[in-house]
Amino acid sequence: VLATELLYEGKAKKVYATEQADVVRVVYKDDATAFNGQKKGQIVGKGSINNQMSNLLFSYLESNGVATHFIEELSERETLVRKVEIVPIEVIVRNIAAGSFTKRLGVAEGTDLTEPLVEFCYKNDELGDPLITDDHAIVLHLATREELAALRRQALEIDRLLQAKFAECDLILVDFKLEFGRLADGTIVLADEISPDTCRLWDVHTRKKLDKDRFRQDLGDVEDAYQEVFARIRKGQSQ
Ligand code: C5P
Repeated sequence: VLATELLYEGKAKKVYATEQADVVRVVYKDDATAFNGQKKGQIVGKGSINNQMSNLLFSYLESNGVATHFIEELSERETLVRKVEIVPIEVIVRNIAAGSFTKRLGVAEGTDLTEPLVEFCYKNDELGDPLITDDHAIVLHLATREELAALRRQALEIDRLLQAKFAECDLILVDFKLEFGRLADGTIVLADEISPDTCRLWDVHTRKKLDKDRFRQDLGDVEDAYQEVFARIRKGQSQ
């Protein structure tokens, strides 16, 4: 009997059971949403690009000592990953001011931050993923104090590694969002994806936006931007 039970369908991915209880199959979709699902569309080829790019980056992080859920790429759109329970905290790291940071704090887009900033948001669609402090996370039982410290440390290490990788591709890593998950024994590993959906990436020379902001802000050339980023990462990988 084929174990193809759909366990979960998110905005950009579907997750299926496999024959192994601790392994799931992720299938990436071309569907795009923004502003907490208020804007909907399709980015043709996105599923395939996000899957393959995320797998390249997760392998790179693994080889640099970061524990992730990644097991094996099955096809352009499908990957086997370790089954986790997602920690309901979106961990955002910012190197340059953009997005909600500029709106909330009145800092001009493009302003360099003097050190990387880590933000925690409560992963809750109904509430619009509100920004929270460590104390909120504790009171809401989202994670322990020790886990929060580990998330922050991991996020900063991942930022350091990703900034170096993207710099090789003439890309500036402006900011990005990470999600972590707990394995059955409670160990926390990096989960979800790292892609132009979850990172802001600017061309180092022109500062052209090469990420989902092109979809959010109706800037055009959305598919081209995703393809451009993937081509640069893939080229960097083979050198
Ligand atoms: O919107 P904001 O400026 O807070 O986003 C910060 C970073 O986190 C951006 O790179 C954005 O793409 C990513 N993000 C995400 N999923 C969310 C919220 C933000 O991938 N739900």
